[in-house]
Amino acid sequence: MPNKGLSLLCLMCILLFFVVVHGVKGDVSYSVPEEMSRGYVIGNIGKDLGLNVKELSARKARINAEGNRKRFCNIDLATGELSVAEIMDRESLCKDKLSCIVKMELVLENPLELHKITLHVQDTNDNSPVFTKDVVKLEIRESSVKGARFRLSEARDADIGQNSVQNYILEKNDNFILAVTSNKDGRKNIELVLDKELDREQQQELTLILTALDGGIPPRSGTVQIHVTVLDANDNAPVFTEEVYRATLPENSAIGTVVIKVSATDSDEGINGEVTYEFSHVFSSEKQAFTLDSITGEITVSGSLDYEEEAVYEMRVEGKDGVGLSTDTKVIIELTDVNDNTPEIYLQSLNSYIHENAPPGTEIGIVNVQDRDSGSNGQVRCVISSNVPFKLEPSITNYYSLVTTAELDREVTSEYNITVTASDEGTPSLSSSKIVNLMVADVNDNPPAFRQQSYSAHITENNKPGSAVCTVSATDPDWRQNGTVNYALHSSEVEGTPVSYLLSINGDTGVIHAVRSFDYEKLKNFKVQVIARDNGFPPLSSNVTVSVLVADENDNTPQILYPAPEGNSLMTEMVPKAVQGNSLVSKVIAVDADSGQNAWLSYHIVKATDPGLFTIGVHSGEIRTQRDISENDGMKQNLIVSVKDNGQPPLSATCTVYLLISDNLAEIPELKDMSQDTGSKLTTYLIIALVSVSTFFITFLIITLAVKFCQRRKPRLLFDGAVAIPSAYLPPNYADVDGTGTLRSVRSAYNYDAYLTTGSRTSDFKFVRSYNDGTLPADSTLRKTSSQDPFGPCDDTDSCQVTILWFVIHSALHSQNTFCIFSIFHVLIFI
Ligand SMILES: *[C@@H]1O[C@H](CO)[C@@H](O)[C@H](O)[C@H]1NC(C)=O
Ligand SMILES: *[C@@H]1O[C@H](CO)[C@@H](O)[C@H](O)[C@H]1NC(C)=O
Ligand SMILES: *[C@@H]1O[C@H](CO)[C@@H](O)[C@H](O)[C@H]1NC(C)=O
Repeated sequence: MPNKGLSLLCLMCILLFFVVVHGVKGDVSYSVPEEMSRGYVIGNIGKDLGLNVKELSARKARINAEGNRKRFCNIDLATGELSVAEIMDRESLCKDKLSCIVKMELVLENPLELHKITLHVQDTNDNSPVFTKDVVKLEIRESSVKGARFRLSEARDADIGQNSVQNYILEKNDNFILAVTSNKDGRKNIELVLDKELDREQQQELTLILTALDGGIPPRSGTVQIHVTVLDANDNAPVFTEEVYRATLPENSAIGTVVIKVSATDSDEGINGEVTYEFSHVFSSEKQAFTLDSITGEITVSGSLDYEEEAVYEMRVEGKDGVGLSTDTKVIIELTDVNDNTPEIYLQSLNSYIHENAPPGTEIGIVNVQDRDSGSNGQVRCVISSNVPFKLEPSITNYYSLVTTAELDREVTSEYNITVTASDEGTPSLSSSKIVNLMVADVNDNPPAFRQQSYSAHITENNKPGSAVCTVSATDPDWRQNGTVNYALHSSEVEGTPVSYLLSINGDTGVIHAVRSFDYEKLKNFKVQVIARDNGFPPLSSNVTVSVLVADENDNTPQILYPAPEGNSLMTEMVPKAVQGNSLVSKVIAVDADSGQNAWLSYHIVKATDPGLFTIGVHSGEIRTQRDISENDGMKQNLIVSVKDNGQPPLSATCTVYLLISDNLAEIPELKDMSQDTGSKLTTYLIIALVSVSTFFITFLIITLAVKFCQRRKPRLLFDGAVAIPSAYLPPNYADVDGTGTLRSVRSAYNYDAYLTTGSRTSDFKFVRSYNDGTLPADSTLRKTSSQDPFGPCDDTDSCQVTILWFVIHSALHSQNTFCIFSIFHVLIFI
């Protein structure tokens, strides 16, 4: 059925052997009978245009009617078939035009493509011939001769061609025959011809039936009654001044405007010469548009005229005299176009949003402009507001693509109102505009950004675990989850401790909490990285460094290194008698594990034997004489020194400094007693030890001999492995002895440099270097060590044994005790 202009093209292709015609952008035309019901398949437009079904749906194929007229057809995207959507009545669409064409467009997107579809609506014989009136009245003179002709108005059939009126049949009668002739504009003249003279006396009136037949199969017919009255007077038919009346009229002419005046004259006198006018055959649209004054013959505008609907009106006007004789004439009214239609904008396939990362040139929609005026009145220019990153790209006539010209950024502008303005070229120009509201859809293109480049958190040591120390904050301008920020600590280690053991972060709020209590003396500062991540897919993240600074608190009391703060200190400073004023006699050495003010120590003498004799340097701790020492000054001078830090509140420690004003230790009886006391005590222990060992040894020998003597079969004794030394045999305050006979090594853990008085007469000053060479670690507690231990550090059992030996010998010689010398041999054997 498709009557293709395309087929000719294809024929040409075949003739040219090898021309690829796939995707030919052509126009198609179909013919379709009028009055077909909805869904009637006109043809397969997909096949005819070489478009497959997938392409049709992918490219959103659709049928557009031209202008805002009715859309008579639909395309079925599943099959590519063009079908009837709206019943087409040829008569109302095209009136009496011989060819009735409905134009449509097939629009495809991406890229925009347009195919014109021409639909020839074919006539079917669905209308019968119709006479203007049911009854035609004729008044004919008796005197009329044979051959006289009387005009009748023709019947009309809305159908065209063969389906229009083809034939007239007059009912058989005695007087008249029918003469049908065609005139030059294709119309038919229908006349009654008098075949046999009328006789008024015989028949005053007669009625005839005229039937009009169309050429359809089967034919349809219409009839009119012709009522003839026989008159006995003379009469003339009216005559119009023009054969055709023409007028032009602007389409916007107001109601009441006189268009033209028709006029006919009748040579008769009186009522026979009075002509009245009426439209003979007009379509209802013409009847609505114009009225004819039956007396004056004036045609006036009575309805709205529209050049776009109907540009030319062709009407017939009948002039009739009083007795019913009539003539007709043609009136042609041409309308001229006035720019009375504003351009119309149709937005098609419009996306309501576009992703912000769409590349420039992305099509947002199609703009179609239409103006029903013709000529320059219908020429439309289309523009959009200039301050937006969009433009209109002209496509096919009256179609534009709305495309982006730049990258969009939702974070800057999230919504555009694009004004599309269409204006025609008429004078004055008419224009209309439409606003395209376009939302920019988000893409996760912004990583979270911290408000600060870095953060620092200050924590005072001894904080409560769980306390908040700092808040980090990052913003992400993206939309919803693309802009929702979550915080996390970057897992790392701070001096071997996982960060998570130190700090935690609230993922939503960015508040950082201390997981535990910090100790400034152990950890002064560290850095952690906080990562802010959005919830987009894929997520974006950024990080920031948080420096955590632990602030010191005065939580450490000063530690006095010299002299040993408490206990039976035997450290005594010798002050020569000859010392003058302001001489340095001793120094108190103290440290404080805190820092800054909390470790800034000051020294004060809180109590002195002779308050006027010594002073102490407030910050140096140096003890000086205030004046020359005189003979009157007591030999023993004790100072109680308080060491205080500068913290809030301050912490302090005290120590006692023993000073001896003497040139020779031996001169001091009390001291001699004291040392002898100590010495004899030591000797006593030693004696007890040696006696015990000797006794044990002798007992052991006796038992051994006894066992050997008694049981000769078992000569060897039980004591095989290591021999334990009961701890009781060694002075408990010098070294601990464990069960396996190993002396536990005793280490000095801190660092000082001082002359220590041991209290031993033979070694008045013993220089002890018992400090590590490394610096004092902040975390090491000051352990009380045996600084008064005359043996110094013992690192292993062997050296301790040697030390004990030395000690024994030393003590023995010192006390000149022969028993002791004897005992040494026991010990030597024992060892
Ligand atoms: C666009 O128009 C809409 C509706 O008229 C309005 O609500 C919106 O605020 C406008 N947006 C801009 C960016 O002008
Ligand atoms: C987030 O961004 C992605 C692309 O990165 C996008 O597909 C998604 O629609 C965005 N989500 C929202 C809520 O806008
Ligand atoms: C932190 O950010 C920098 C650059 O912004 C990046 O090179 C580094 O890998 C990030 N660190 C972490 C732990 O994500």
